[in-house]
Amino acid sequence: MLRETVLTPAQLILPLFVLPGEGRREPIGALPGVDRVTPDLAAELAVEAAALDVSGVLLFGLPEEKDAEGTSAWDPNGPTPTAVRAIRSAAPGLVIATDVCLCQYTSHGHCGLVGPNGEILNDASLPALARAAVAHAQAGADLVAPSDMFDGRIGVIRDALDEEGFAESVGILAYSSKFSSALYGPFRDAAHSTPSAGDRRSHQLDPANRIEAVREGLIDEEEGADMLMVKPAITALDVISDLSEQSDLPVLAYQVSGEYAMLRHAADAGAFAFDAAMLESLVSIRRAGARAVITYSAVDVARWLA
Ligand code: PBG
Ligand code: ZN
Repeated sequence: MLRETVLTPAQLILPLFVLPGEGRREPIGALPGVDRVTPDLAAELAVEAAALDVSGVLLFGLPEEKDAEGTSAWDPNGPTPTAVRAIRSAAPGLVIATDVCLCQYTSHGHCGLVGPNGEILNDASLPALARAAVAHAQAGADLVAPSDMFDGRIGVIRDALDEEGFAESVGILAYSSKFSSALYGPFRDAAHSTPSAGDRRSHQLDPANRIEAVREGLIDEEEGADMLMVKPAITALDVISDLSEQSDLPVLAYQVSGEYAMLRHAADAGAFAFDAAMLESLVSIRRAGARAVITYSAVDVARWLA
């Protein structure tokens, strides 16, 4: 009767790693229980999620080819656009969000273009990100979710979407407050996106900075984002709380791969029950202020809640 925070399947979003081809499923060693899947199988998972009232999916494409410029990121027949179309027809009511970044598509594994001395080129990367976002919109995505953390990308992507006729129909879920985190390790295995040299500290946030993390969210709001996101979740509950108070936009949180892996491996070692620990973590993220949570456990959690 007096519970302050509720957790419902509608507040969950399921990330999916999408392979090219058909009928293929690959387990991810670093994320027990999560598979890479081809678009047809992604559509089956989406149908299962929708039947349990999960609100949406977040797609990560794993292309056949990588190059220095990440050109496969805007291939209309790449894994992400193909999965968008398959999911749209199989589960019409589901919100389809697509991760927009270059790191899965570049041979060097960085989120954008890299200069002659290995430096990450912020401004030069923005048109490529916009091109990828437009390709996802053309395939039918509802939301594009830029995860690069480069300065100015939300405005550039918004302009590109508007110019291509998606002013009304496609929103931006900004990875606005994304810390540079060790907890992305399992994801980089899953997505084959570990940088071959260097790191992402020039553009992702320093975990020591709370005020800056909020400011990044407010800047993305200014530039035209429709929703903000804090990531990781459990290490940034203060930022989720601050940002949801200071921004008018809905703030989402991403329970990242390392958070899932910590709970999974600890539970497998007998430390605690996975379902209890997962639910406690998710409700705490909601309590901090997250309107919805991206979690690899979305389908299981929805089933437990049902
Ligand atoms: C890539 C991207 C990352 C995640 C989402 N998009 C990893 C990174 O920035 O290196 C992390 C998600 C997770 O760990 O579950 N831009
Ligand atoms: Zn990236």
